[in-house]
Amino acid sequence: MKKILITGGAGFIGSHLIRLFVNKYPDYQIYNLDKLTYAGNLENLKDIEKMPNYKFILGDIVDGDFIMNLFKKESFDGVIHLAAESHVDRSITNPMEFIMTNIVGTVNLLNAAKYIWKDNLEGKRFYHVSTDEVYGSLGDTGFFYEDTAYAPHSPYSASKASSDHLVRAYHDTFGLPIIISNCSNNYGQNQFPEKLIPLFINNIRHNKPLPVYGKGVNVRDWLYVVDHASAIDVIYHNGPDGETFNIGGHNEWKNIDLIKVLIKVVDKKLGREPGSSEKLITYVTDRAGHDLRYAIDSSKLQNELGWTPSLQFEEGIEKTVDWYLENQQWLDNVTSGNYKKYYDEMYGNR
Ligand code: NAD
Ligand code: TYD
Repeated sequence: MKKILITGGAGFIGSHLIRLFVNKYPDYQIYNLDKLTYAGNLENLKDIEKMPNYKFILGDIVDGDFIMNLFKKESFDGVIHLAAESHVDRSITNPMEFIMTNIVGTVNLLNAAKYIWKDNLEGKRFYHVSTDEVYGSLGDTGFFYEDTAYAPHSPYSASKASSDHLVRAYHDTFGLPIIISNCSNNYGQNQFPEKLIPLFINNIRHNKPLPVYGKGVNVRDWLYVVDHASAIDVIYHNGPDGETFNIGGHNEWKNIDLIKVLIKVVDKKLGREPGSSEKLITYVTDRAGHDLRYAIDSSKLQNELGWTPSLQFEEGIEKTVDWYLENQQWLDNVTSGNYKKYYDEMYGNR
């Protein structure tokens, strides 16, 4: 059995990836290593937690000794690294958490993989999951390509850029078999409701203000989270060593236009006059260093590895709104902090 370590598997994207791998690859033993920060929620994985090829490990990637001992004990064949501090606004208030987890944590994993794979690299792979935000900000036109120069602006994107450089350095210096992907903004079920889409769905439902940063003119390129997971699967298994792939769905939206679509969909589903919740839109002070536009060119992934997104945005947003409206309990648990009890109930006496 191949042993695959997925870090950050209790988070938004990680939980979708764990579900995909546990169900699709019964001959892989999947280890989910997660510190369960505020963003880690094991309730996301309720449906697969009892599968025989799944194991949860509570741990911090910043703890180098713990990581080295874990790798020596389990001898993983592959690593898919998603654990990170991921919210730009939090990186503005507390950059150091981002430096520790995103940079130091990544180097601890690289060192441990380098150590246990030193005698045999056959079939080994270190996959680093990154973001398009490392490329900085675009003007009104153009796209990010795999060879676009890095120009991060927030402490979050600078810490991810730094980790990308270190992963490449371990490939070039030590021959570590690595692969990297840089994906655009994800949306879908189980996203922590501090990010735009789940926050706004929840606020519309509860008639709370919708805080739009600046003039709402910033553009993001949105991809359904299940499609990000399927891209990681394809790249992990078929991408050539040392390569980088951009992942995105050619789906650009100006924030204010996306928010108005979201309002219409939620209003309709709640039996309100579609658009009536636009009165909740509240323009607030802009985010410091707010990148104007992100847009990904993912033709390398599409042409070389045959990946395509599975659904159109309209369908994805309907599914997403349905999920949050039907899972108010999940949202309530997250906003009240109750989700933290789940670990104790599930794993507390093991
Ligand atoms: P998330 O914040 O929802 O989840 C992060 C997970 O990492 C959580 O479960 C958390 O508990 C865990 N974690 C944090 N610090 C840890 C530590 N020190 N040790 C162990 N575990 C720790 O993030 P996400 O949105 O799922 O993003 C996952 C990855 O994908 C990140 O690397 C992020 O940079 C990247 N990414 C995210 C997006 C997006 O739109 N969300 C887009 C492109 C790339
Ligand atoms: P976010 O979901 O935080 O993702 P990122 O900053 O990584 O792109 O934000 C998406 C966009 O929405 C971004 O341009 C900032 C904006 N935004 C708001 O206008 N109001 C909000 O309350 C939030 C969370 C984001």
